[in-house]
Amino acid sequence: MPKLTINGKTVTCDAGTPLIEAAKQVGEHIPYFCYHPSLTRPASCRMCLVEVEKAPKLMPACYTTVAEGMVVLTKSDKVIRARKAVLEFLLLNHPVDCPICDQAGECTLQNLYFEYSAQESRLKTRKVNKVKAFPIGPEVVYDGERCVLCTRCVRFCEQITKTNELTTTQRADMTEIRPFPGRELDNDYSQCTVDLCPVGALTSRNFRFKCRVWYLDTTESICTGCARGCSTYLEHFRGEVQRFRPRTNPEINSYWMCDHGRRLYREPHEDRLLNPFIKGVGAVPRNKGLAEAVKRLKAFRDAGRANKLAVVLSPQGSNEGLFSLIRFALKYGVERFYMNGKPDTAFTLRNEPDKVADDFLIVADKNPNTTGLRRLAEAFGITVLSAASLAADLESKKVDSAFILGANFPLDLDKKSKLWQKLEDADLVIFLGQRATPFTTLAHVSLPSCSFAEKQGSYINIDGIRQVAKAAFEPHGLSQPDWKWIERLSLRLQLGWEYENFEDLEAAANAKLAAPPAKELEEDKNAPAQT
Ligand code: SF4
Ligand code: SF4
Ligand code: FES
Repeated sequence: MPKLTINGKTVTCDAGTPLIEAAKQVGEHIPYFCYHPSLTRPASCRMCLVEVEKAPKLMPACYTTVAEGMVVLTKSDKVIRARKAVLEFLLLNHPVDCPICDQAGECTLQNLYFEYSAQESRLKTRKVNKVKAFPIGPEVVYDGERCVLCTRCVRFCEQITKTNELTTTQRADMTEIRPFPGRELDNDYSQCTVDLCPVGALTSRNFRFKCRVWYLDTTESICTGCARGCSTYLEHFRGEVQRFRPRTNPEINSYWMCDHGRRLYREPHEDRLLNPFIKGVGAVPRNKGLAEAVKRLKAFRDAGRANKLAVVLSPQGSNEGLFSLIRFALKYGVERFYMNGKPDTAFTLRNEPDKVADDFLIVADKNPNTTGLRRLAEAFGITVLSAASLAADLESKKVDSAFILGANFPLDLDKKSKLWQKLEDADLVIFLGQRATPFTTLAHVSLPSCSFAEKQGSYINIDGIRQVAKAAFEPHGLSQPDWKWIERLSLRLQLGWEYENFEDLEAAANAKLAAPPAKELEEDKNAPAQT
């Protein structure tokens, strides 16, 4: 492994490591525009030039690889002069419209200008005008005047999605990024180009002009769009999610996430159930809703019918919520469990609407915690059947009532369906969920749980990797985490609750999940076929 010095600091790296990465290892940041660790390196922007002893001229640190005995300077006068010159060149025709640019506050060009240049333009002629606010695709807008032609967006479409929509057009100072004729930037990952764009040339149609980035708070989270569970940053302002950005995770999503997952930023706010509801009464305070649920559950159990209560689990729920509900149900006397999540068709590929998965990140299962639910079911020794089986079991009177955990999707909302009608006739339906839907009017008691953005919870993705989504803001309305409702129900029904706080509960759920995975779940004849 070559040993070299960077600004006097010794570092040993694998052969082939670019200087820009070697510098990171000794805490030296080299500025760049066109470099990205997962893309090819055209070394075109020249922002990363550094001084290498014995080299006749400055070398691009993104392209030059480490060599034994190399002596590198990244902050010498010569390097700083080169950086200023590159910035002056890049800003020559730039409109400097930062006050109305959505990238302001997170723009590499703006930051580097203040760090290195901060000089007046010496241009005496008119700036070259280029296309503004050009809709380059359904999710992305292009501004040609702000583009520094780093080609990261072009290379992303060539090398990561392999969809090849973009190219450079024209020459010299007229060069622009455009889709090929008859094409648009419409792959399933198109908004990754917005993340990659170091300036305000590519902006997201969903996010632009919604919120200045310096007002955003950032929370580590995961995408709940499919069982891949991409690691994300959830960015929010005053209790509202504004956008998701991919959080680098080499084991799961590398640097990327899909557009479908990003579009879920409204989900925590849509049709929220903000109060407990009692059928025939309407919205009630938290304690009244709880008391009504306790009263009905107690009467049901006292009548010796606990084993007739179906419990419907959601693979949208966190491990802690599912652990709490299964544990509660078993202590209560429940014998039959069902699962109700989003269907595989919750979204399909943009250009292949008959496909529910691709060979990159998007998987068919559109629920973030199916693995966690299955593992908990194994560990508790319960069989989990599909929601379709619930209709059949209600029909055959194996169960006649239901407790439904519906983080996002309530059960089949078609009022003509057998399931709906059976539940309408049921003696007891308790709904613990996030959304106010017609289903809320069917349940005898609906208890509002908060969205994943308002509570901490862990989820296990399709590859068995456990991740934690942190709470971004306070629960909305009278909602609270599902496990909190279960805690209160458990205590009021004398079913016990040994956990002092969330950390205790998390540890208990983890201990349960660590149980050795047993056989696959019993095959369910009524389960819908995979599309
Ligand atoms: S649009 Fe952005 S990412 Fe694409 S070449 Fe221009 S500056 Fe680079
Ligand atoms: S691939 Fe799945 S988890 Fe990742 S961003 Fe898309 S929907 Fe979300
Ligand atoms: S980052 Fe090295 S030349 Fe662009």
